[in-house]
Amino acid sequence: NLGSIRFEGRVAIVTGAGGGLGREYALELARRGAKVVVNDLGASRDGTGHSDAALKVVEEIEAAGGEAMSNGGSVTDYDQMVEMVARASEKWGGVHILINNAGVLRDKSFAKMEPADFKFVVDVHLNGSANATKAVWDMMRGQNYGRILMTASSTGLYGNFGQANYGAAKLGLARLTKTLAIEGAKNNIKVNTIAPTAGTRMTQDIFPEEAFKAFSPDKVAPAAVFLVSEDAPTNMIVGAGAGVFQAAYVTLTQGKLLTGDDLSVEGVAANWDAIIDRAGEIVPQSGSEQSMTILSKLQGR
Ligand code: NAI
Repeated sequence: NLGSIRFEGRVAIVTGAGGGLGREYALELARRGAKVVVNDLGASRDGTGHSDAALKVVEEIEAAGGEAMSNGGSVTDYDQMVEMVARASEKWGGVHILINNAGVLRDKSFAKMEPADFKFVVDVHLNGSANATKAVWDMMRGQNYGRILMTASSTGLYGNFGQANYGAAKLGLARLTKTLAIEGAKNNIKVNTIAPTAGTRMTQDIFPEEAFKAFSPDKVAPAAVFLVSEDAPTNMIVGAGAGVFQAAYVTLTQGKLLTGDDLSVEGVAANWDAIIDRAGEIVPQSGSEQSMTILSKLQGR
């Protein structure tokens, strides 16, 4: 018996929920009793244009007996995010959950990428998530409850040809998570990152048809919804695709203290294998924990 994870009394905002993964998250949260703000400006994959995609998802939720409101604001516009949060909290009395999911693609090798396309992709993913998060942050602190999910990607964690802009933004989000998880802890705000792999319009020309079906968004939603639930962990990076769930960590090797003649360019070269040796690797929980490992090496511990 797995019990039942419910969201009655919770208000959730899902950005970019007019299609793909966001729609699936919104539907699943609503099925489990949350009131959901379906945000989407209804853009095409490269972020241009508008449609009523959010409205359609709200209609789907309502047809299934759930409660939702649509929002056509752009995550790139902080004032629109503030207004979205205000409308939700006027109607439903607060916002408890934010899933930052809106995203765009402008793939090109770095050699061919225009600075404007680099900036735009970073603006939607990274600044967009920071805008929506900033818009709910004070409320979550005030009510001593918040669950926030950022959306990274395998490219953000591990890199991918043709996605310099996207990858930079996505790792930025995974690191935004780390700091906000630390800052939010005392107010019961839990912040996590999901790195999904799913067949959506974002991946439709990358995945063969068979894989597209195997990687349906409903197989990612269980992780996203768990990560914004009451008993969610915090400060985690979770991979999810086709029913496989993983955790990703930024590790640190034991490293080596170099002194005397070894504290030189040649010394680093000569000790390279020891510096990168992964035996005894750790996962620091904050930047200051890394500094502590340096101090303890200096003290000979
Ligand atoms: P999608 O293109 O179906 O969904 C993205 C949604 O964001 C669209 O509905 C779009 O209209 C909306 N959007 C774009 N700009 C916006 C803005 N400024 N304000 C509000 N909404 C905006 O693609 P998918 O795959 O569902 O992507 C969801 C998230 O998952 C994205 O952040 C994406 O980068 C990420 N992701 C997806 C992967 C996949 O395999 N599908 C892999 C890794 C990450």
